[in-house]
Amino acid sequence: MVSVKGRIAIVTDDPGWHGKQLKLAFAELGYSSDYVSLTACRFEIQPGRTPLVIPGFEDALPDGVFVRGVPGGSLEEVVLYLDFLHALKRMKIPVYNNGHAVERSVDKGMTSFLLQNAGLPTPLTWVLRDRDIALSIIENELKLGHFVISKPLFGSQGAGIRRLEKKTDLMWLTSSQGVYYFQRFVHCAGEGFSDIRVFVVNDRAVAAMRRCGKSWLNNVARGASCERIELDSDMANLAIKATATLEMDYAGVDIIKDQNGYYTVIEVNSIPAWKGLESVCDFSVAKVLAEDLVKRYMQP
Ligand SMILES: Nc1ncnc2c1ncn2[C@@H]1O[C@H](COP(=O)(O)OP(=O)(O)O)[C@@H](O)[C@H]1O
Ligand SMILES: [Mg+2]
Repeated sequence: MVSVKGRIAIVTDDPGWHGKQLKLAFAELGYSSDYVSLTACRFEIQPGRTPLVIPGFEDALPDGVFVRGVPGGSLEEVVLYLDFLHALKRMKIPVYNNGHAVERSVDKGMTSFLLQNAGLPTPLTWVLRDRDIALSIIENELKLGHFVISKPLFGSQGAGIRRLEKKTDLMWLTSSQGVYYFQRFVHCAGEGFSDIRVFVVNDRAVAAMRRCGKSWLNNVARGASCERIELDSDMANLAIKATATLEMDYAGVDIIKDQNGYYTVIEVNSIPAWKGLESVCDFSVAKVLAEDLVKRYMQP
């Protein structure tokens, strides 16, 4: 049997293409890896024993953890999943991106606050509980001639996002588990619909693409096409600062160039997919990520 340098847990419920790419990339670096679902982990807290049980890692906890997916669920379930990640970090096991980074970015309201608080450009955003105030904010925005984007607080891949364009759209206004998250719609520069995804790893923008949506929703998961773009320094610096603000090892940063030519950060993803990006760039993203995790956190 070939000796391995260490064992990695790839946290995911759906390994798919990304999981496979990561497994290969870690193997190339001499690390074995196994997929782990947070739903199957448990705390067993008793004296003299490792308090966390991870299926497949019962004999020894992993040497490193790559977070590729955190399942949704009740508040208690999600808190428990994040607690597992926090606990691993407390036990000095590198977690990439760590639980706190995941927590900050899964919560779009916190992301928006942190971006603005760091002085970075991000669209006008409202996050609130009160329905009457929610309605009056939208009415006011519509009166001013703006569209409003309504998003689930914890959404991803464009799911559940709506654009409110006229007063009658308010009839369909729903909260996400009681919370409203609204953003002023930013019209993008150029023809049609597009935004920019910048991939940042260890404070370096490694690649960027333009995503051209079939409508204003430019997620690859919603059928947007990808096209490689060269990074300009404004775009790269903004993406790097946004990633640093959210304290992430790596991130997929969504940016829109508005009609005045200014960049604004829409969101910062701590668990970004990269299949679309890799289809237009000439390197293995999984390899860059695996190398970064191993080099920065797992070598003595
Ligand atoms: N304020 C906005 N103005 C214009 N387009 C937006 C705005 N917010 C989101 N979008 C569009 O919707 C897409 C998904 O929004 P995003 O906040 O990134 O959520 P998700 O986590 O679902 O990707 C963006 O990539 C962009 O195309
Ligand atoms: Mg996005």
